[in-house]
Amino acid sequence: MHKVIKAFGIQLLALLILAVAIYGLQFLVEPPYPWLAIALMQGVLAALLTCKLGLPCWWRWIQFLIPLGFYGAFSLQVSPWLGLAAFIMLWLVFSNVSKERVPLYLTNATTRHALKALIKRRKAVNFMDLGCGLGGNVVFMSQLVNVRSSVGVETAPLPFAIAKLFTWLRGGRVQAQNLWNVDLSDYDLVYAFLSSEPMPRLWQKVVEEMRPGTLFVSNSFAVPGVEPSEVWELSDSRKTRLYIYTL
Ligand SMILES: C[S@@+](CC[C@H](N)C(=O)[O-])C[C@H]1O[C@@H](n2cnc3c(N)ncnc32)[C@H](O)[C@@H]1O
Repeated sequence: MHKVIKAFGIQLLALLILAVAIYGLQFLVEPPYPWLAIALMQGVLAALLTCKLGLPCWWRWIQFLIPLGFYGAFSLQVSPWLGLAAFIMLWLVFSNVSKERVPLYLTNATTRHALKALIKRRKAVNFMDLGCGLGGNVVFMSQLVNVRSSVGVETAPLPFAIAKLFTWLRGGRVQAQNLWNVDLSDYDLVYAFLSSEPMPRLWQKVVEEMRPGTLFVSNSFAVPGVEPSEVWELSDSRKTRLYIYTL
């Protein structure tokens, strides 16, 4: 089951238990009860159930804070529209977190120059950025003399819109396409900066579709159980590791 739906179900279950407990409590202690105490109890109950019902244990902190967040918002009379607007904004940027377990973070300049160095002896390179974020890599690669085409795919709506505008102004091409539907046989260098979650499935796709001699590069996330041809540790502050697989 989708984790967010499960978390919501756990909150509902905690609410049900709390409602029964409060119903019983009225025979012992005269109501009303302080809302803060009720919100705290809801948070504690939801947090306790979270680990027990199979969500990752670190989610209990989120589960604990949600009722307190509601309490805070009600107390401060925050407009619910603000919450909705924040939710929509987050979804527009991070929609791939819930589906693919991949958030948005960006490749830095040092890494882009490493990609440039990697292909310096190659000619007429077709470059693909799987999940291209704001399109920075696509633009950068499109400006190299030995790059014939530079393409990125992105499904999160807001990054896609920004990437589309950026590439329209500065070069390269971006498509609103799921990375799982890209035919990788068209590319000489395929770059991915995703997360550990999709790497095993992505590797399957890479070996099935990429041509011999072409390059698959993963920023920070190695393919489990597969020896890379090379690992480059870069001199940036986060000591970026590029896992390079020559097909
Ligand atoms: C960590 S960011 C990297 C952005 C860019 N490649 C860079 O290096 O600067 C990963 C991006 O992949 C996108 N993404 C995740 N899953 C995707 C999918 N199935 N199809 C297309 N894009 C996806 C996310 O929306 C996010 O923008």
